[in-house]
Amino acid sequence: MINEDLIVKMTAFNAGDPKRIQHFLKVYEFAHVIGVREGLDPKTLHILEMAAILHDIGIRPSEEKYGRCDGKLQEQEGPAYAKEMLAQFPEVTVAETARICYLIAHHHTYENVDGLDYRILLEADFLVNALEDNLSKEAIRKCRSNVFETETGIYLLNTMFGV
Ligand SMILES: [Fe+2]
Repeated sequence: MINEDLIVKMTAFNAGDPKRIQHFLKVYEFAHVIGVREGLDPKTLHILEMAAILHDIGIRPSEEKYGRCDGKLQEQEGPAYAKEMLAQFPEVTVAETARICYLIAHHHTYENVDGLDYRILLEADFLVNALEDNLSKEAIRKCRSNVFETETGIYLLNTMFGV
């Protein structure tokens, strides 16, 4: 139930902004599909899923505080809000919260990807952003060679966008 409760809480956090809500839901589903197919162990899969739901939690506070929400600001602002939200779930351990916050703090950083959970979050976010940002096939191919590593992520990207 944690994922579903987190989804409801993140919907409230982004109230009035259906585009952002549907963004994180899509990223969550792609992360889940890739994570399952790539054989993540259940604990890591759950960390990935929670990180996917929460990954953009820094956008609204960035906009409110600074009037903008570039990737670095999102990474900087997100973890504190994620930590506060996750604290409402006693089942989520301190170590899990730390990893989720780390992933949120790096989800626009394509270097030093230190785990499959991190890799898959980048891939899932890109699969959604490529459509939402109307990226060219050239930009999609470039990101495929720079970021994508999992067989499922590459398959979904190639198949969906015809690249
Ligand atoms: Fe995102």
